[in-house]
Amino acid sequence: MTDETTPTSGVDNIPRTIWWGEDEATGRPAVFLIDQTRLPLQGDILMCNVAEGVCLAIQSLGVRGAPALGVAAALALALWTENETDDIDTTENYVAGLTEVAQAVMSTRPTAVNLFWGAERIRRVAMDHMDMPLDELKALVVQEARNMEAEDEKRNRMIGEHGAALLPDEAKILTHCNAGSLATAYFGTALGVVFTAHEQGKIAHVWVDETRPVNQGGRLTTWELGLAGIPFALIADSMAGYVMSKGWVDAIIVGADRIAANGDTANKIGTYALAVLAKHHGIPFYVAAPTSTVDLTISTGEDIVIEERDPREMMGFTVSGTFEPDSPDANRAFDLLTKDGTYDMKLAKGHRLEIERKGGGYGFDGWFRITPPNVQVFNPAFDITPGELITAIITERGPIRPEPNFETTLALMCMMSGGMHEITIEGFSGAIDFPPGSFGEMIPEPEFEDGFEGEAEDESQDESAPEDS
Ligand code: MRU
Repeated sequence: MTDETTPTSGVDNIPRTIWWGEDEATGRPAVFLIDQTRLPLQGDILMCNVAEGVCLAIQSLGVRGAPALGVAAALALALWTENETDDIDTTENYVAGLTEVAQAVMSTRPTAVNLFWGAERIRRVAMDHMDMPLDELKALVVQEARNMEAEDEKRNRMIGEHGAALLPDEAKILTHCNAGSLATAYFGTALGVVFTAHEQGKIAHVWVDETRPVNQGGRLTTWELGLAGIPFALIADSMAGYVMSKGWVDAIIVGADRIAANGDTANKIGTYALAVLAKHHGIPFYVAAPTSTVDLTISTGEDIVIEERDPREMMGFTVSGTFEPDSPDANRAFDLLTKDGTYDMKLAKGHRLEIERKGGGYGFDGWFRITPPNVQVFNPAFDITPGELITAIITERGPIRPEPNFETTLALMCMMSGGMHEITIEGFSGAIDFPPGSFGEMIPEPEFEDGFEGEAEDESQDESAPEDS
């Protein structure tokens, strides 16, 4: 994926998130994804043969992280082009169909602009070349999507170089969520900076925020840092202020899902609190993101739609793993249980375990409720960090600082970057206005007659394991 102009780093045993390949059974193209909902205990690879499969993977967080979503969006359109257009015979109908699929992809999640950018860039290429013969146009669309996968890695490596240059020797870094290789096509943004600085011998330690509720830090960032051999410690989100107060953090580096024209940045919930703490402690606060995450069509963070997710992410934990039974008898018992497919076991009210045969062993997914039943939940997935709290936004074009103001520096630096503002969708102002709760039903307030009763159960409440945590 690299070429002679791409900076390279010796950190190379980190995971690739998404790639274009072939379904061996049919010989047709497929999009392959490492299922991030089950990492690191299970390393399932999802194979998508149709665009809808990629959309489901996006909604469930099978693939996640803003730059990875941009690539996933593009590859979903390429997949549709390859596998679902055999009966389309005019360019007009092909572009109309592509537009519909692009809309479906764009409606999977509302906050990360890269998703919209990825889908729209592909659609734009098709619309700009409608004079081509249809088969050539389709080939062009597929090639553009595959180029975007390679471009993403290249951009991340540039971000890594620019970011590493800002760090002191023996740097102690704090990061939030997962802005690593898993959140991009390859290499990562915030972690790309850490990987590059590690190669240069500059990293002493990384603090990894757990990142409740989905634990992207605890599950994914720790896994990547471990693979890369970088010293780290996992902390609960609430411990970040303490480690800062002790003088154990030289810089905070996070990723971004959408950056408004004034530098206001949407990123994983909890980022804003870190930026406030960083200001109090005089610690530089860096946002590492490609210019495709900058959305100059939005003037401030106020206009960024914040996704609300399934309340079950807050109400409990999903645990996933694989096991091998320790005796032939146990094996036979599990074979019997799973002979008709997934074996679903209710362990206690609101707790369940699903077991399925996987290769020679068995896979399990359990959801364990940790709250009383029916609690009211508010689960925003992102927050907005005001531009004034950001020391610099590290892009592939270099660090963008707030002087004289983010409006000017961002506009100048992102000129001709091919970002969202340059491929603006007709009639689309940069955000789709999803009604609150579109991405998970709020559970109604419990009505207990005599105060709280711990195990009161609302039979109507579906407490099956959420797909995504
Ligand atoms: O809900 P997620 O896991 O998709 O949220 C991801 C983040 O907030 C990341 O920090 C962001 O996308 C930057 S990834 C390089």
